Amino acid sequence: MKFAIIGAGGLGGFFGARLTAAGHDVSFLARGEHLTALRERGLTVLGPEATTLPVHATGDPAELGTADAVLLAVKTWQLDAAVAALAPVVDADTAVITLQNGVEAPAQVARVLGKDAVLPGVAKVIAALAGPGTIRHVGGAGSLDVAEWDNRASERVERIRAAFAGAGIGTTPPADIWADLWAKFLFIAPAGGLGAVTGATFGELRHHPETRRTLHAAMAEIEQLARASGVDLPTGVVAATLAFLDGQPAEGTTSLQRDIAAGRPSESDAWTGAVVRLGREAGIPTPVNDVLYAVLRLREDR
Ligand SMILES: NC(=O)c1ccc[n+]([C@@H]2O[C@H](COP(=O)([O-])OP(=O)(O)OC[C@H]3O[C@@H](n4cnc5c(N)ncnc54)[C@H](OP(=O)(O)O)[C@@H]3O)[C@@H](O)[C@H]2O)c1
Repeated sequence: MKFAIIGAGGLGGFFGARLTAAGHDVSFLARGEHLTALRERGLTVLGPEATTLPVHATGDPAELGTADAVLLAVKTWQLDAAVAALAPVVDADTAVITLQNGVEAPAQVARVLGKDAVLPGVAKVIAALAGPGTIRHVGGAGSLDVAEWDNRASERVERIRAAFAGAGIGTTPPADIWADLWAKFLFIAPAGGLGAVTGATFGELRHHPETRRTLHAAMAEIEQLARASGVDLPTGVVAATLAFLDGQPAEGTTSLQRDIAAGRPSESDAWTGAVVRLGREAGIPTPVNDVLYAVLRLREDR
């Protein structure tokens, strides 16, 4: 299959390297020193299966050509600009997969490209930029859940799943992609928001009764919001998510926390900010997330 990877960072670099190694026709849109390094030295993936691969990378979307599938692998706050550059890559048959954490990216992209073009995706892997031309991957090969907007079976989704499975990345057909997206959101937004506000690791957040209660409350607000928005989350999702957190490495943190600590732009608006915004729209009170977002905004503005 022909893939265009928009953003060759942690996620795009990792998925793109796997798809390249599996023999697919993969091109990356990248920029700056990272682009120069990718062109001159290829893409290096550090981690359990370290590798360096020659890759096709460009800074010009016109050089990507029309793709069967586009992986949108930029941060949420970079998405509008990335989508605006997609015209040369997308034709009537191109599937555009959103991979962002948060619940708003599919609709954000659909507003520009139309719902039919967009496949909501849920990516689970841990990978980050480690320097120009290099990403660091931690843990297993991860997974990609992807589906049509209305979860119907389709040939293009099957082809994409087969390509990922062939590249060693798990793909389970989701019963409901929106429930999957919100279930991940219910973990990442509270863990990210509270982690960024406190500077605490997963181990500390879950160990202290007060932060554990705060996490529980922030997750319960998201569960209520999801249900009010018509998303069918599984019963017991908050308890299951806390149990998932209990199984994560104690030293773990989210990218939101690391970005804010490093003074970089973060995805706070698409994570905790979205809980607050969507809660207001739906008339669902989100007091815990409101406080987290107030502190996040202050920290980020500072
Ligand atoms: N990393 C993971 O393990 C993981 C797992 C699941 C979900 N996610 C989600 O996936 C999304 C991407 O995360 P990430 O960690 O991969 O971010 P990242 O490492 O920051 O990678 C994004 C890359 O896209 C590049 N980029 C942005 N706009 C561009 C443009 N218009 N043209 C060319 N390149 C552009 C960035 O370049 P600059 O550095 O120059 O801006 C950067 O190299 C986020 O929403 C994240 O929450 C990530």
